Amino acid sequence: MAKEKILVTSALPYVNGPIHLGHLSGAYLPADIYVRYKRLKGDDIIYISGSDEHGVPITISADKENVSPQVIIDRYHKLNYDAFEKFGMSFDNYSRTSLPIHHNTAKEFFLEFYKQGILKEKKTLQFYDEKNKMFLPDRYVEGTCPNCGFEEARSDECENCGALYEPKELKNPKSKISGESPILKETAHWFFPLGKFQQRLENYINEMNEKYGWKENVLQYCRGWFKDGLKDRAVTRDLDWGVKVPLDDAEGKVLYVWFEAVLGYISSTKEYSEKISKPNFWKKYWLDQNTKYIAFIGKDNVVFHCIVFPAMLMAWNDGEKEKYCLPQNVPANEFLNFEGRKFSKSRNWGVDAIDFLKIFPADPLRYTLAANLPENRDTDFQWKEFQAKNNSELAAIFGNFINRTFTFAHKQFKGKVPPKGVLNEMDKEMIKTISEYPQKISGYFERYKIKKGTNEIMNLARAGNKYFNDSEPWITVKTDKEKCSTTINICLQTIYTLAELFEPVLPFSSKKIFGMLNTELTTWEKCGDENLPTGHKLNKAEILFPQIEDKMIQEQIDKLGGGESKTDKNNLISYDDFMKTELKVAEVIEAEKIKKSKKLLKLKVKLGDEVRQVIAGIALSYKPEEMIGKKVVIVANLQPVKIMGEESKGMILAVENEGGNLEVLTASNSVKNGIRVS
Ligand code: 2FM
Ligand code: ZN
Repeated sequence: MAKEKILVTSALPYVNGPIHLGHLSGAYLPADIYVRYKRLKGDDIIYISGSDEHGVPITISADKENVSPQVIIDRYHKLNYDAFEKFGMSFDNYSRTSLPIHHNTAKEFFLEFYKQGILKEKKTLQFYDEKNKMFLPDRYVEGTCPNCGFEEARSDECENCGALYEPKELKNPKSKISGESPILKETAHWFFPLGKFQQRLENYINEMNEKYGWKENVLQYCRGWFKDGLKDRAVTRDLDWGVKVPLDDAEGKVLYVWFEAVLGYISSTKEYSEKISKPNFWKKYWLDQNTKYIAFIGKDNVVFHCIVFPAMLMAWNDGEKEKYCLPQNVPANEFLNFEGRKFSKSRNWGVDAIDFLKIFPADPLRYTLAANLPENRDTDFQWKEFQAKNNSELAAIFGNFINRTFTFAHKQFKGKVPPKGVLNEMDKEMIKTISEYPQKISGYFERYKIKKGTNEIMNLARAGNKYFNDSEPWITVKTDKEKCSTTINICLQTIYTLAELFEPVLPFSSKKIFGMLNTELTTWEKCGDENLPTGHKLNKAEILFPQIEDKMIQEQIDKLGGGESKTDKNNLISYDDFMKTELKVAEVIEAEKIKKSKKLLKLKVKLGDEVRQVIAGIALSYKPEEMIGKKVVIVANLQPVKIMGEESKGMILAVENEGGNLEVLTASNSVKNGIRVS
């Protein structure tokens, strides 16, 4: 088969928190397995992703913690990057949308559309919080969905039924900041005419489906959108965090996060090109209509990848410049639940990837998730099933087959691959089985049936074990050494095949097995051949999948639920650690708003004789004059930081009340300034 040129992307996760197992199952593990498989096939492939660092999810997290969005994105970009690495994700590049290369790419697209006259400027009515004097982005407003009645719908989109609507259609809107009903106020935005592209988009999806077979769940979502009719969509927002709209009269406006995030795939590939000092390298993939572009995502991202992004690329391609390739397939997954419920941070339900990988190795997790991917419907992660997958499948079937074969090879054949003698029917059948396996698994992986492919590879390990049992080498070693030698030879060839077929799913274990076999991977097609020559020296075997004891699983189950206050043993700190934090009572003596910021107050506080400046993100909840005279609690020994050009020496402690407002923690008037809280 001719080699393919393939571009694979995984959705850029928002860096508003740590990624969890649900994310891994949706857009990352299936993509990584596919990419690793294609690399073994020898195809020309590049795998791209990165952090989505703009948009309201980030500003909401920053508001909650009273820090700048930059603090949030730096923290979670690093955390997620490390988690992905530990999990064995093999991105060629993992970028960040806060980089200049991304801002420039996004602006270039916007300006191209603007110059082509595609974008229409329209005045719209947007929710506005009168108390806090700000336009409220989608997620800052909650109300009842006009379509399904869901009570936690956003201003223009319902998470429950997927409906998109105009903000004025939302029932009982409430500002998440003040808790009050926002008014609708006029603001101007630029709109992308999605409706104009509907026919072309339908043709495109039909053609791709006919040629490459799109998943039924994805087609269903798209048909739903087409049936409702595509409408113009605003591609700008009133927000101060994001890619600035590159026009003179656009003060305070940024590009809508979804408009620019999808372009992050392009800018990440550009960044990679710069890293390898070949600035035009990205064009080889993006600017070639023959590129097989596969976009891996979760189901909540379908509309942006199957409709919005292709329409943007079509619009660009209508211009004079070089033309981009469109996704050839978008194998979106449904969701993974956790022990029967949705992942929920606030209800302490689920587990973050980074925490999981502190306790268990990556491969058993990769295997458990791969064998249970939500490819056609939502699936469920259960701790006990994870334990069973490790103990009863990886260890008891695959690991055991390797162990017993190596034990025989070392004990009876001096640690070398023994020769084959005359073959009986069972031997011939086993040789035939392994030779057919690469193609069999290709048949699944090529069609993104990663779950079926993974389970089918384990069936080969089962077949290997059965062949070992039925051949009874522990008897033939005494009665017919040539027969025993044949059995062990064929088992070793099977292990080689398994190690390669499993490489995309179990990369860490596969590497160890090749070390034990004292050899390297071959091409995918050849991995079902007899790759180990007679007399080839083997290395010692090691235990690949240690048992996971009940106790370890129970500990994890016990951590679930009970809200955030439940103490995670892994997060306990020592008394000494706590005492490093100097909490002190400080009296606010001056307070003023910081220009250009809706959220920040500049405070002067007195700690004993010392007066210092602290910047606090409490302006949406307190007027400056309300703060004067308050005895607040501050973290006094934080390293000084600059926030919007102002120095801040310390942090004021506050909690969020039910209405989403912040309340600073205070001490009574009888407490002296500067006294330590302990
Ligand atoms: O759902 C999310 O986490 C989005 N940040 C995905 C963006 S994918 C693409 F547009 F970059
Ligand atoms: Zn709804």
